[in-house]
Amino acid sequence: MGSLDKPKALRLVTLFSGAVKGMSFYPASHPAITRPLTELHRILTSALGEEAQISWGLIDGIMFFEDHLFIAPSAAISELSNMMLEKEISRIVATTSINLNGTASVNFDELRSFIKILSVKSADFDTLSHQMAQTGITGFKIIRHGSNRYDGDGDEGPESSHGSDHVAAYNRALSAISTICLDIERGRIPNSAALIKVVDQMVGITRQEPLALLGLTMIKDYDNYTFNHCVNVGVLSMALGTALGLDATSVKDLGIAGLLHDIGKTMVPKEILNKPGKLSSGEFDEMKRHPELGSKIIREMEGLSPHIESVVLGHHLHYNRNGYPEWASKLPLNNMTDIVAVADTYDAITTLRVYQSPVNPRTALNEMKEMADTILNGAVFERFVEMMGSYPVGTLVRLDSNEVALVYRPNPLDEKAPTVLVLIDGDGVRLSAPRKQALIGSDGSHYAEIVAVVDPLLKNIDSGRFIADGA
Ligand SMILES: [Fe+2]
Ligand SMILES: [Fe+2]
Repeated sequence: MGSLDKPKALRLVTLFSGAVKGMSFYPASHPAITRPLTELHRILTSALGEEAQISWGLIDGIMFFEDHLFIAPSAAISELSNMMLEKEISRIVATTSINLNGTASVNFDELRSFIKILSVKSADFDTLSHQMAQTGITGFKIIRHGSNRYDGDGDEGPESSHGSDHVAAYNRALSAISTICLDIERGRIPNSAALIKVVDQMVGITRQEPLALLGLTMIKDYDNYTFNHCVNVGVLSMALGTALGLDATSVKDLGIAGLLHDIGKTMVPKEILNKPGKLSSGEFDEMKRHPELGSKIIREMEGLSPHIESVVLGHHLHYNRNGYPEWASKLPLNNMTDIVAVADTYDAITTLRVYQSPVNPRTALNEMKEMADTILNGAVFERFVEMMGSYPVGTLVRLDSNEVALVYRPNPLDEKAPTVLVLIDGDGVRLSAPRKQALIGSDGSHYAEIVAVVDPLLKNIDSGRFIADGA
């Protein structure tokens, strides 16, 4: 068990990421480096005061610090993850050194040298190890990706309880999309390799178990809304495409198109994107450019099928072609556009944003019914409703055992008996960790029945957070 709470662990990893990045721009004595380095040193020393060693790094693409996992990564965490992946580092281990007066501490100079060595972009794993040995760094160790990640301490690490393939794939997709957006902001043509790779993985998961990733789409990280929205739309589109019987190539294109559908927003001013309340007509015109801007970026990216460009251009055109961009209303659109449009609308409605409260999944589907055959393709929407079942993922329900639970995964054999995460026990006591429970077991045994839908606001429950923690 680590000695830092999650906010402190996050702070430490963020400072570490910033220091590595900063050291590639500034000399080690610059205040932009020394200030965060001093705070980093202080937190590390206090954490190591209670532990012989602590480690942070990547498990299946997810950043961890001791037993904390950062499922929805911030920009700093994504940057650190990318740096570690590039250098094939899976884990960084810090140990205390005993100083002259016999107390254990982290050697500040070693910390600074270690970060300096890591900050050299071109240095690969072997170069790093060599330089660390030459500099005499003993308080920090780097573990190569693919070697035994938990060597020496006999600790199975957090992987045993959290690191499922599904969460890892979701997280890799988040990281891929955030890197793409960063590239666009810096005026570069984004590289599509990481994105294609993760979508391939997701297609594999979805083909085997079409609904497996749906639970993750309830991860609604309010600070990271855009990236989560992109991944959610990708996941929902792939599941819906599979439910509609599309082949693997189309499902893959759908995933990529869903993930990329809003990348044009990267070029819309932030004040407009994040504005609470209604946009002025000029601002709305600006916002309406994002499908076209996105499709232009995609045209320049390597290895993407032309269908993807068309889906992104058309995702706000509506089924009746009364949407935007108006000039594109007569263009023949790929029918995958209708699938992404349904996924996009659903995820947007069920997410809390600066200007709207979240709507529970059932109400969202009811609202969308009004859009069938005009804004949305009615047949595609109907299949979506069937796929989500009576109790869509993310619905908070009361069971006849009096427990309160969150629907986590639909059950294709019995839509009234999904797999849930139990959050509150029969006596009204909130569980410290959600418990995954199939309402009908694989042997046909009944656990409980759903008796009512509960309003998450009444129970003060952040559904997305529970899905993230319980997955
Ligand atoms: Fe959009
Ligand atoms: Fe969108």
